[in-house]
Amino acid sequence: MEFDELTSDRRSVRGFRTDPIPREVMTEIVEVATRAPSSMNSQPWHFHVISGDALERIRDGNTERMMAGAAPDREITSHGGYEGVHRERQKEVALQLFDAMDIAWEDKGRRKDWAMRGFRQFDAPVSVVGTIDRNLTHSTVAYFDLGAAVYGMVLAAWERGVGSVINGQGISQSSVVRANGNIPEDQIIVITVAMGYPADGFAANDVKSRRRPVDDVVTFTD
Ligand SMILES: Cc1cc2nc3c(=O)[nH]c(=O)nc-3n(C[C@H](O)[C@H](O)[C@H](O)COP(=O)(O)O)c2cc1C
Repeated sequence: MEFDELTSDRRSVRGFRTDPIPREVMTEIVEVATRAPSSMNSQPWHFHVISGDALERIRDGNTERMMAGAAPDREITSHGGYEGVHRERQKEVALQLFDAMDIAWEDKGRRKDWAMRGFRQFDAPVSVVGTIDRNLTHSTVAYFDLGAAVYGMVLAAWERGVGSVINGQGISQSSVVRANGNIPEDQIIVITVAMGYPADGFAANDVKSRRRPVDDVVTFTD
C-alpha cells in the first residue's frame, strides 16, 4: 500500500480473532517499528510481545483490580481526565464506537462492559508492551521516540492484515503487566498495543474517527 493510503485506511481494531500472529510476522512488524527516528539515534525503546498464559494472567489481574475499584497504578505521569476540546473529541469517538456497538450512552452497565474489554486488551491474542530505559524517565523526548516507533508498528501491522489498538487502559495496572510480562527493572512501562487479526463483523472495527481539518492545526509565517 502507498503510505498515504495506508495512513488513511488504518483504524483502531477492538475485536480480534483468536488465531495467533506468527512469530516471523511479529518480528517483521517490530523491525519496521525500529526504523523510526530517535533523538541522537538513542533508540530508547523495547517491545515485549506477550501472549498465551502470561497475557491471560494480565487480563485476569487487570479485571480483578478494576472491578475492585483499584486506583490507577501506572509508571508514567498521567494528565488525569480530559477537559474542554480534548474531552469533546474523546466523547465524539466514544459515541461513534457505542453507536456501532449499539450501546446507549445512558446504559452505564454496557458502557462499563465496554471499558472492561479495554482493560482485558480487547481479548487480543497479543499485547506488545512498549517500554523505555528507566534512566530516561524524565526525558520527554524518549516518550516522543517511543511514540514514533509505535506508530510505525501499527502501520506495519495494518499493511500485513494485522489489526491493533494502542491501549492505555492495558497499562493502567502496570504492576500486573510488569510481574507477568517479565519486564526488566531498568525499563519503565509506557504503553501497550493490543494486536491480532480483525474479527469479521465486529462493528467497532469499521469506525473511522474524525480528524481536525488541516487548517486548524497548521500555521505558516508566509
Ligand atoms: C496513547 C494512546 C492511548 C490509547 N488508549 C486507548 C484505550 O485505552 N482504549 C481505546 O479503546 N483506545 C485507545 N487508544 C486509541 C484511540 O482511541 C484512537 O487511536 C483514536 O480514537 C483515533 O482512532 P483511530 O486509531 O481509529 O484512527 C489510544 C491511542 C493512543 C495513541
